[in-house]
Order: sequence, then structure tokens, then C-alpha cells
Amino acid sequence: MLSIPLYLAPLAGYTDRAFRELCKDWKADYLLSEMVSADGLIRDRQKTLDYVLFSQRERPYGVQIFGSDPRVMAKAAEVLLPFKPDFIDINMGCPVKKVIKRGAGSVLMQNPDLAAAIVREVKKVCSGIVPLSVKFRSGWDSNTINYREFGLKMQDSGADILCLHPRTTKQMFGGVSNWEHIKILKQELRIPLIGNGDVTSPESAEKILQETACDAIMIGRGALGRPWLFSQIKEYFATGQYSPVTKDTLLETALQHMDNALQYKAERIVVREMRSQLCHYIKALPGSKEVREKINHAQSAEEIRDQLRNWLRI
Ligand SMILES: Cc1cc2nc3c(=O)[nH]c(=O)nc-3n(C[C@H](O)[C@H](O)[C@H](O)COP(=O)(O)O)c2cc1C
Repeated sequence: MLSIPLYLAPLAGYTDRAFRELCKDWKADYLLSEMVSADGLIRDRQKTLDYVLFSQRERPYGVQIFGSDPRVMAKAAEVLLPFKPDFIDINMGCPVKKVIKRGAGSVLMQNPDLAAAIVREVKKVCSGIVPLSVKFRSGWDSNTINYREFGLKMQDSGADILCLHPRTTKQMFGGVSNWEHIKILKQELRIPLIGNGDVTSPESAEKILQETACDAIMIGRGALGRPWLFSQIKEYFATGQYSPVTKDTLLETALQHMDNALQYKAERIVVREMRSQLCHYIKALPGSKEVREKINHAQSAEEIRDQLRNWLRI
């Protein structure tokens, strides 16, 4: 029987408390906040903290921070520790312009010395309190693949866990993840390595595990609109098969997602945010285009509920 921890990946704009709690209900082992700016945690503390606050049932839970100044990153970790997250993660993989322009995210892979200084400073704050993880990519582009040296340097600088998303920055989220990179890095590390990228089914979870021997699996897009994927993977690893999801379960889960969100956010915000969340639940089903249109124009949570119920109960 295979057994391995499953992480929900940080997905900015998606993995808020409502979705994280849902994934926990469906047996995700570890949850992570969306990335938050270290500067923001210091300068605009309350607003930024809203993105990372969590409930006890989300544990074990980590907060992901991004930034480029080692002292600011360490200060951000100090701000977070009183809230008692179970770990702190540093984002060194984000390819988005807004983040890279600030010298943060995946551009740090081009400056391993600065990346190492960040890890050392944050580690001084976290040491003996919570583990520190680092999430990064294969390299900047296909000519500058440096995940191996980079990963080893992060380990030597004090990281307790690493997570590799084996695409280059230039690839953004296109093409396929090169799991071979996870396999190679895993063989050289003495700390655990989380494998990430393109795990979208129980079968692909088994494949990444067999091909790379990674210590844990992190799942992002595959869980959008399919939080039950965690549970299906566990069932598959335990029994060799897994239960398909019925329309009723899909409906109940989507409605639960919205109810979770209504606990934490105003209805008008939830109605807007559910447009991008719910389209992932329904996109594979026939007739989803029409119902999506209706959801996009809904003015209340009740209207969204009615649209989903009418459509899925036909
Ligand atoms: C919409 C979106 C938002 C993301 N936000 C973050 C983020 O905040 N922090 C981070 O480290 N990675 C972020 N990622 C990358 C994912 O965590 C993950 O590494 C990537 O999607 C590959 O995994 P997957 O194939 O399972 O989705 C984001 C990806 C997407 C598509």
C-alpha cells in the first residue's frame, strides 16, 4: 500500500480559507496560504493578514511569503509566528511579472546567493519553532536549468523541506512538468522533497511517486473544482481503485464551497469570486456553458444555488 502526504498547492486567487477547508474535508494533509508579500505583512499588516488567517481545522497549515530583502522576509516571518502556522514557505517560483519586477519569486533562482541569504535570515527566526520550506522551479529557461545546485544551496542555507515545480520560469504553466528533475534532486538531498506539477488524477499521483520517489505530492490545478481528488488518491493508493464522483456529490461540494466562503466574506464578494471557482466544478459536464453564463450574471448566493440545483438535478 502506497502512503504519502498530499499538499494543496498555493494558488493565488483560489486557495483561500473556504477552499482550503473543503480540501481538508476531502483529506488533503497539508494546506498552504496563497502567497503574501513580506512587505505587505510589515507595512499593511491587517489587510495582508486577512489572506493568511486560518482555522484550527486547517492544520497542518503553512503560510507562503514572497519578497527579495532578507531582513524584510525575516521580519515578515516574525509577524506570522504569533499566529502559530505549522510551517513557513518561501516562494522562489512565481513567474508573474508583478512579483519578478520586485526581485522576488522565480527571479531569485538567477541570484542564488541572495536566495540563500533570504533562507538564512528567515531560518534564524523560525529555527526551533517551525520548519521552513522553499518552493522553486527548474530554472529561468531551458538554457539555465539550475534546480539541482539551487536546491542543494537552499538545503545548505537551512531549508527543512523543498518543493520543486519542474518547469522553467519561461514556461510559466504551459508544456509539461519535467519530473526527471524531481527524481534527480531527490537522490541528492538529505531533506524531504515535495514533487509538484501536473498531478491531476490518482493514476498520475502514482506515476510521479514511482518515477521520482518524492517524499510528498503537491497538487494545484488538479484540485480546482475537484477537491475530492485528495480522497480519491488516498483510496487508490490503499485499494487500487477509487470511487467516481456523482453529480450529487459534485453539487453538494460546490454548494459547500460557497457556504464556506459566505462564512468569511461578504455575499457580494463571494458571488463575484464564485464565478471563477465554480466554473472548474462544472466545465467537464454537458451544458456547462449556459449555466456558467447564468452564474456569471447572478446577483446573490441564492440565485447561484438555484442555477446549480436546477441544472444538475435535471
Ligand atoms: C492561478 C495560479 C495561482 C498560483 N499561485 C501560486 C502562489 O501563490 N504561490 C506559488 O508558490 N505557486 C503558485 N502557483 C503555482 C502552483 O502552486 C503550482 O506550482 C503549479 O500550478 C504546478 O502545479 P499543478 O500542475 O498541480 O497546478 C499558482 C498557479 C496558478 C495556476
